[in-house]
Amino acid sequence: MPSPASRSPPLLLLVPFLLLLLFSAASAWKKDEFRNCNQTPFCKRARGRKAHSVPSLSTADISISDGAVVARLLPSQPLRQATDGDDPESDTVPPRPLLLRISVYQGGVLRLHIDEDASAPRRRFQVPDVLLPDLDDRRLWLSRLSSPAAGSSSFYLAEGFEAVLVHDPFQIQVRRKGSGEPVLSFNSHGLFDFEQLRAKKNDDEDWEERFRGHTDTRPHGPQSISFDISFHGADFVYGIPEHASTSLALRPTSGPGVEFSEPYRLFNLDVFEYLDDSPFGLYGSIPFMLSHGARSSSGFFWLNAAEMQIDVLGPGWDDPAAPAKDRIDTVWMSEAGVVDAFFFVGHEPKDVLRQYTGITGTPAMPQEFAVAYHQCRWNYRDEEDVAAVDAGFDEHDIPYDVLWLDIEHTDGKRYFTWDRVLFPNPQEMQGKLAAKGRHMVTIVDPHIKRDDSFYIHKEASERGYYVKDASGKDFDGWCWPGSSSYLDVLNPEIREWWAEKFSFENYVGSTPSLYIWNDMNEPSVFNGPEISMPRDAIHFGDVEHRELHNAYGYYFHMATSNGLLKRGNGKDRPFVLSRAFFAGSQRYGAVWTGDNTADWDHLRASVPMILTLGLTGMTFSGADVGGFFGNPEPELLVRWYQLGAYYPFFRAHAHQDTKRREPWLFGERNTALIREAVHVRYSLLPYYYTLFREASVSGIPVMRPLWLEFPADKETYNNGEAFMVGPSLLVQGIYEERQKSVSVYLPAGQSWYNLRNGVSYAGGVSHKLEVSEDSIPTFQRAGTIIPRKDRFRRSSTQMVNDPYTLVIALNGSFAAEGELYVDDGKTYDFEQGAYIHRRFIFADLKLTSVNIHPANLGGKFPSDCVIERIVLLGLPSGAKKAVIEPGNREANVELGPLTLRGGSSPDAITVRKPNVHIADDWTLRIL
Ligand code: NOJ
Repeated sequence: MPSPASRSPPLLLLVPFLLLLLFSAASAWKKDEFRNCNQTPFCKRARGRKAHSVPSLSTADISISDGAVVARLLPSQPLRQATDGDDPESDTVPPRPLLLRISVYQGGVLRLHIDEDASAPRRRFQVPDVLLPDLDDRRLWLSRLSSPAAGSSSFYLAEGFEAVLVHDPFQIQVRRKGSGEPVLSFNSHGLFDFEQLRAKKNDDEDWEERFRGHTDTRPHGPQSISFDISFHGADFVYGIPEHASTSLALRPTSGPGVEFSEPYRLFNLDVFEYLDDSPFGLYGSIPFMLSHGARSSSGFFWLNAAEMQIDVLGPGWDDPAAPAKDRIDTVWMSEAGVVDAFFFVGHEPKDVLRQYTGITGTPAMPQEFAVAYHQCRWNYRDEEDVAAVDAGFDEHDIPYDVLWLDIEHTDGKRYFTWDRVLFPNPQEMQGKLAAKGRHMVTIVDPHIKRDDSFYIHKEASERGYYVKDASGKDFDGWCWPGSSSYLDVLNPEIREWWAEKFSFENYVGSTPSLYIWNDMNEPSVFNGPEISMPRDAIHFGDVEHRELHNAYGYYFHMATSNGLLKRGNGKDRPFVLSRAFFAGSQRYGAVWTGDNTADWDHLRASVPMILTLGLTGMTFSGADVGGFFGNPEPELLVRWYQLGAYYPFFRAHAHQDTKRREPWLFGERNTALIREAVHVRYSLLPYYYTLFREASVSGIPVMRPLWLEFPADKETYNNGEAFMVGPSLLVQGIYEERQKSVSVYLPAGQSWYNLRNGVSYAGGVSHKLEVSEDSIPTFQRAGTIIPRKDRFRRSSTQMVNDPYTLVIALNGSFAAEGELYVDDGKTYDFEQGAYIHRRFIFADLKLTSVNIHPANLGGKFPSDCVIERIVLLGLPSGAKKAVIEPGNREANVELGPLTLRGGSSPDAITVRKPNVHIADDWTLRIL
């Protein structure tokens, strides 16, 4: 978020506000602008309930219909009828049955659906367009229910797992077959509550809700849902972004002695100067939680886009005297919608990620340039500024791929336009960047300036494309351009229309090297409740904003991404960065963690935040390098580049009030350090691109918590300071000023090679290492092979034909493996097989390149690229030469170095100029 100054309407009103700001600089998070749980009636009510205090429901008429288990849910005890004078929001359940349906999908996924029956006064909202369209093809057809014990029915879930439906009180359990050990359970604490829609009574005074001068008319009254989910055998739970946190595992929010007293909130908001450690919700929401423990990995996803609050219950929450339990209990509360929930059980945590992305989609494969370094600032002032920054990178020998333009490039914040004085020749400007293989990104926000002379507004208002307010008029809110309206992107027709706006004819001044940034799409409304859209605003199909709030940004991102796809006739992959997101956003592009602050704690928090995004599908994510608000000291800036170089999305950005901070503005030494950090990223681009390919196929993120790779190593379970890049690289951040040493835990089971000097370290121990200013500690796992490109160019696109380096880190058996994926970096031709996919296997002193491109796919990607160096770590000395087959060619072998830029490594052995082609089969023997 920007400075609040620029978001308020009339200038005079601003003066007292600005003065206030001046005196409250210390902690700028405006807590009072947002509701806490106590100020949110559904949350307060649900949180006030004790286990088993909700009138229980039981199942009736259980049967199998259409391959799924169906039943009705009725009160276990006949209900007292509400009488006049009762609290209208008491827990009295109208005696209408709820309809339950349980389906099972391939791979161990159970889906639970609970909704009102057809006699409800209104259809409750179910979020469309998130689940993959082919999901139903993967449904397992259930044909049989067994009754393992009186009062319950069970059915097959997956190899080794079954599901049990307990009849009274109604409960669901997923458990291991045979041992009967539970893995996940729903309603085992009897907290399931479903407020059915009902007619307003005359004395329903609490029907409306008020907050800071805003009235929510709530025309349909209370309709919340809450329930408990238990993760059995779990040591920790993770996920449910987006919150800023310095811890990777979710800390308890309820129970004796908890650190956080508010539940985790999922409500997309534009939070000005957010805190680095808080359960408060930020710009995006993914209601997916994973658990992991030595015995179990599982996941739970609730497809619901209304405001959600989630409590993680600490030990002793129900009974402080009870002994610690082998499970983590959670309570999920939502303001509206239905229960459409998915349970995932796996043998390994990666299974759970595959299951989740199997239903919501794997991340889109980005273009290669987007994986490189991005330079952003609010704002690059004009074309001269753009040219100077671009030249600065060349002058200082720092590669970069994308230059970004923020809101000031437009004509009065009318997106798709250019300020004619500052940017008179946008196409020429983009052309100059493109000539060096570089790209540009411009910002396009969802608020449309209400100006009749602005074609987008004119068309949108004439066609009735805006979200309506509660009275049925176009919703009018305040944002950057002043009075603005917001497109109703829930409507597919409006999304199509929006997508058309990105065609080269419609977006005048755009060229094929221009890509898009969607900001403020929570949506941010400066004068709205909690700086967002009123919950009683109306969308397509009479859907209330409260019902889909968390998915608004998702739809906007989707429409923009489809626009970029269309403008290139579906040929080039889109690149769209979005601030708001929801489950499934990974299919449409990248996200970032919004307006962080230039301080060490925000640097630290960036790692758990990005890891959490990766665990919940959104692997293409990063944090503003340098910190958005404030001016980083050079040391912090350098450390941020050193860490940010490993984020999946690597972009520097800064608020307009900050001092300029292009990498060369802090003296020669700091320029050199930043150059080195950026170079590290560029050299690792082949590895990153290979990992993005893996993510796009399997959903396994590029940047991974250690426990995802080492699920049995308990020491890793709550490590949010170090992370894996893919399976092979471990990175430890440096999060303190003038830090002299750092303790790095290297997971058990193998040794690790320090990538600075090739020295090997034992796994399963913490090592105290000296910290140097020139890099942060990085280690290659023994037994892996990492592909690199070590020649530096101006941009990634200029590296396409460059030769590769393979870094082989040998394990105790002198073996290692790794992969390389290469395609054209731009189009979808890879879907027809136009790619190279190789596995390199080193064993018995022989390196073999194996083709893992599936033969039946056909297609081919031509490449003349060769491998120019092979660095071997951990090889006993005595190697004399390498012999390559076919051809019986020889290549020289010599000692070190590890990188082309020095970094001496007495233990590394280099094969020079083997010049084997990456597209070919070959072997290389060390003699
Ligand atoms: C808020 C975004 O989070 C920030 O990155 C951007 O610079 C400003 N809006 C201005 O567009």
